[in-house]
Amino acid sequence: MEETRVKRRIVLVPVPAQGHVTPMMQLGKALQSIGFSITVVQTQYNRVTSSKDFSDFRFLTIPGSLTDSDLKNLGALQFLLKLNQTCGESFKHCLGQLLKEQDNNDDIACVIYDEYMYFSQAATKEFQLSSIVFSTTSATAFVCRSVLAKVNAEVFLIDIKDPELQDKVFPGLHPLRYKDLPTSAFGPLESLLKLYSEVVNTRTASAVIVNSVSCLESSSLTWLQRELQVPVYPIGPLHIAASAPSSLLEEDRSCIEWLNKLKPSSVVYISLGSLALMETKDMLEMAWGLSNSNQPFLWVIRPGSIPASEWTESLPEEFTKLVSEKGYIVKWAPQMEVLKHPAVGGFWSHCGWNSTLESIGEGIPMICRPFTGDQKVNARYLESVWRIGFQLEGELEKGTVERAVKRLFVDEEGAEMRKRAIGLKEKLEASVRSGGSSFRSLDDFVNSLKMKNS
Ligand code: UDX
Repeated sequence: MEETRVKRRIVLVPVPAQGHVTPMMQLGKALQSIGFSITVVQTQYNRVTSSKDFSDFRFLTIPGSLTDSDLKNLGALQFLLKLNQTCGESFKHCLGQLLKEQDNNDDIACVIYDEYMYFSQAATKEFQLSSIVFSTTSATAFVCRSVLAKVNAEVFLIDIKDPELQDKVFPGLHPLRYKDLPTSAFGPLESLLKLYSEVVNTRTASAVIVNSVSCLESSSLTWLQRELQVPVYPIGPLHIAASAPSSLLEEDRSCIEWLNKLKPSSVVYISLGSLALMETKDMLEMAWGLSNSNQPFLWVIRPGSIPASEWTESLPEEFTKLVSEKGYIVKWAPQMEVLKHPAVGGFWSHCGWNSTLESIGEGIPMICRPFTGDQKVNARYLESVWRIGFQLEGELEKGTVERAVKRLFVDEEGAEMRKRAIGLKEKLEASVRSGGSSFRSLDDFVNSLKMKNS
């Protein structure tokens, strides 16, 4: 890719949550590696600290007006809506200051904001800067949001609860069924539809960047290109193009030592990302099933992920006994390193988009247990489009857990999934290499900035 001679600045606005911060920081690294300097404007909630990995980034914090009680009581949806209602002015002030400081060698090429930080749009436009939306979810989830933003809310609110419709394909979204739609466990459906209508309002944006790749989601990307009426740049998977460690929680590296002692492709890695919750009774059924499957397992149990429990103290002693023989538990793992480890052979995942890309990027097949939102969309694609995983639906029960693990690790079907996952891994790697589709897309994006500003 052609080097940019003059250092131009790009302003990034991430959502303060792990699954959004990670790809945004990777995007920053990718843009920095081709000559841009990076300023990250964050809210005061859930901030990335300037570590050695980001010592060349500039971090600015804008104040928000959410109270402690807001932070404690608002669900994720209401939190995002409120954040957008209250941060516009402070962002405008911050951007104004940055513009005052800039000189010819360091002007602002564009503002790239997470689609859920749409308050950024107004000030960006007011200062006549290029305003770029960054979607950290799959292109298919973006398509779903666009479709749901336009549904008749009254009809949809009834249909989505109709048990008879659950297994039916939602019109225009094949192969997604009603039950696969990105509805949320974090707030009322009405709030979600409101949020979607704000998020997909790309009318004033100059372009959309998606952390996806055409070999995974070609038809959804084509749909977006056609419907959004602004250029869409699929430049992912960003974790392959530009790795950037940006964990908001401390990683427990002792699990790598533990993995080092185990046979290749033998370990089930279990992680539910940064938001999903799990009931005590399900944890116990899982522990029984895993133990009976005889497969070693590395289990991330995030503090706060079991309701009404700080960490694992609410789990019975039986649980500790079951996991002590073949399992290893950590609060937070260096996930990308874990998935790269030769001992890991399968990923029991909530199917967050980052986890999905990271797993495919290492050729690891998945047991899909989506919790909410876009995870359900990803799980459906993993099972029925890419066919490198299968969903574990309904009540968790030790027998079904044991069978699921054996299906992935022992059965021929699991071996076939692994083969397909390795095939996809190779395609993803090729897409970010020179000449690959995502590489070219990033190049096109950078060229579009040069044209706009020349
Ligand atoms: C959520 C949504 O689920 C996701 O689909 C959306 O795109 C962003 O918001 P989250 O639930 O946190 O994200 O899942 P995911 O997208 O998988 O992101 C989790 C990130 O945390 C991954 O990059 C993963 O590598 C990292 N992680 C997870 C760790 O580093 N250590 C862990 O122990 C667990």
